Amino acid sequence: MLQGKKILLIVSGGIAAYKCPDLVRSLRKRGADVRCILTRGGAEFVTPLALGAVSEDKVYEDLFSLTDEAEMGHIRLSREADVVLVAPATANLLAKMASGIADDLASTALLATDKPVLCAPAMNVQMWENPATRSNIEVLSKRGIGFIGPEEGDMACGEWGLGRMSEPEQITAALEGFFRRGLPLDGTRALVTSGPTHEAIDPVRYLANRSSGKQGHAIAAALARLGSATTLVSGPTGQPDPAGVDVVHVESAVQMLDACTNALPVDVAVLAAAVSDWRPEHAEDGKIKKAPGATPPGLALVENPDILATLSAPGNLRPRLVIGFAAETDDILENAKAKRTRKGCDWIVANDVSPETGTFAGDANTVHLITQNGIEDWPRQSKTDVARRLADRVAETLAVTA
Ligand code: CTP
Repeated sequence: MLQGKKILLIVSGGIAAYKCPDLVRSLRKRGADVRCILTRGGAEFVTPLALGAVSEDKVYEDLFSLTDEAEMGHIRLSREADVVLVAPATANLLAKMASGIADDLASTALLATDKPVLCAPAMNVQMWENPATRSNIEVLSKRGIGFIGPEEGDMACGEWGLGRMSEPEQITAALEGFFRRGLPLDGTRALVTSGPTHEAIDPVRYLANRSSGKQGHAIAAALARLGSATTLVSGPTGQPDPAGVDVVHVESAVQMLDACTNALPVDVAVLAAAVSDWRPEHAEDGKIKKAPGATPPGLALVENPDILATLSAPGNLRPRLVIGFAAETDDILENAKAKRTRKGCDWIVANDVSPETGTFAGDANTVHLITQNGIEDWPRQSKTDVARRLADRVAETLAVTA
């Protein structure tokens, strides 16, 4: 979850710099703002144009550029970030950092920053193992500088060993871990389902329902914001993928169950999807044609698997907390209480989805939280606020049962 995080990326002169445009894209996909400093050596491997295009920002290159300094001084550049990421961090730049040398914009920003610094080293295995580098790493670690990698593998120079820069996805995951530290759900995993399912009748027709996916998507975002590594299994919706969440897109109930099972084990599962109870017994391979004068075709249905009941069943992989939703139009509380017992989940969020409430398509929701301790009536509030409150309750409960 890097939503709104400001990352100052320092790209120094190693062959791994060619991966930096991908790194910038991966960080931005997770919601981060990325600003780049490119050293003279780095510019030999990746162009400022490429980094500028993917970061959609100016790329800073030269300490002594008067225009750059007038626009944004090196002190401000290094301080307005939430974290400074050096990738690739060459042996040379690590040595400069260890001895406090500031002879270009990158090393000056690193000396001037008051923010955490993370380095993804990249160098030949002999350079990595050289006592000079070992002692620089030790000095920097003692000063609180963090390291991501390096990895073992083939090197650009043809040798094999430790020294490859971690892949952009690994660096992104490490940064997410860094920002999760101290959050209430750090170290937990969450699974959320959202949206309707589409049950194919033939290649062009399906059975579906009015669920918008707004509530489920908001819950996934809220759990991720509290530091949980969150997987969202989403049926077809018009909602954008929430930042910082792994999203698996599915169509049918059977696919949704499959994706949920693959996401286990998790600490908490919130099943907010409006899963179709039935599917056509046979989905035709070709489009069903309308013959003039013929009787309309019948639709034989079979029951879909119940994902909530499946995940709630006792077993090694049962999440510590399973939360279901009950979308009702009549006798809301009674129906929801019975559903909680029938499906075996821990909590049920009951809501009135009668057409006059506008709940399905709307942005607000009036819910009742049914737990083993009774019923809580929550006020009408936005779906985002329902999600935040539910995520707070999850965090309190998981902390107690940890
Ligand atoms: N659910 C599920 N798999 C299904 C049907 C429902 O996981 N095949 C989950 C929903 O995600 C929700 C809860 O079960 O968390 C209740 O869904 P709802 O449609 O209200 O309940 P049903 O079991 O379908 O009961 P009914 O339609 O009779 O009210």
